[in-house]
Amino acid sequence: MTTKLLEGKKALITGSRRGIGAGIAQLFAEHGADVGINDVVRDTEADKAIAAVESLGQKASWHQADVGNADDRTRMLDEFVAEHGRIDILVNNAVASRDMHFTEITEEFWDHLVGHALKGYLFMAQSVANRMIEHGHGGSIINISSVHSYRAWPHDGVYGIVKAGLNRMVLSMAHDLAGKGITANCVAPGYIDSRVLPEDQESGRGNDEYLGSALGFVPSRRGGLPKDIAGACVFLASDLGEYVNGQTITVDGGFLAGGYPQDSQPLEPGMPGAAE
Ligand SMILES: NC(=O)c1ccc[n+]([C@@H]2O[C@H](COP(=O)([O-])OP(=O)(O)OC[C@H]3O[C@@H](n4cnc5c(N)ncnc54)[C@H](O)[C@@H]3O)[C@@H](O)[C@H]2O)c1
Repeated sequence: MTTKLLEGKKALITGSRRGIGAGIAQLFAEHGADVGINDVVRDTEADKAIAAVESLGQKASWHQADVGNADDRTRMLDEFVAEHGRIDILVNNAVASRDMHFTEITEEFWDHLVGHALKGYLFMAQSVANRMIEHGHGGSIINISSVHSYRAWPHDGVYGIVKAGLNRMVLSMAHDLAGKGITANCVAPGYIDSRVLPEDQESGRGNDEYLGSALGFVPSRRGGLPKDIAGACVFLASDLGEYVNGQTITVDGGFLAGGYPQDSQPLEPGMPGAAE
């Protein structure tokens, strides 16, 4: 039997009706945590995420809220604490983004993305930190960042800026929350297959078809799975990760380590960058 690393913990995960958030909710429940599932909509995916937690014998609460809206955030946290008695773990994960070329970025899109995925994360983290301080038991706050926080992809400007901001945010949180028993970290995923798939296609999650031409750039030679990100979150939220604070942990199958295609050849002598 696996050792349960989060026994008795109470965790709120934003944007967790599907994808990476639902994967985190499930692994947290497998490790003995009760979980709050949040999203903007309640649908069959949300029902499945809740049922997955309950089927593991853990309590699941549902919180329909837009993390970009201050009133929604306050109501959600009040509801969560009323239901679970306290909060030990927050995972800021919710996002609704799209690509936009730099020359076409609109103020409306900036306000939308920054509003929920940077400002929303900061004020959610602030409210949760204040509750943890009030209750005097510490806790763990995790933001889901991205490899886009380090590198640019075409048309990813606002998304990359938001994610880079999260990495920087946890440095300040670690400092300002010093001595309170609260850790603040980011997990930066690489290519994670978070698609909603029919049950009979689950075994193909993360396969070559998903990664396409990116496969050669990922040393682990597979797409990431929600549970890969969830594993890093369990570590950070458990006693094992107690001394990790203000960090961004990249979980990308080695993508950022190299970025060279599988069949790339060593540079020939005399080529730019080649060893003498
Ligand atoms: N999938 C990847 O390859 C990848 C890579 C790097 C980082 N990430 C990050 O991981 C996180 C999860 O990504 P995913 O692929 O599972 O996305 P997803 O789109 O599958 O899930 C995101 C969830 O957030 C919800 N949501 C959106 N806006 C919300 C709001 N304002 N309030 C509450 N909920 C809201 C959506 O309804 C959705 O259910 C995001 O922060 C994303 O940036 C994903």
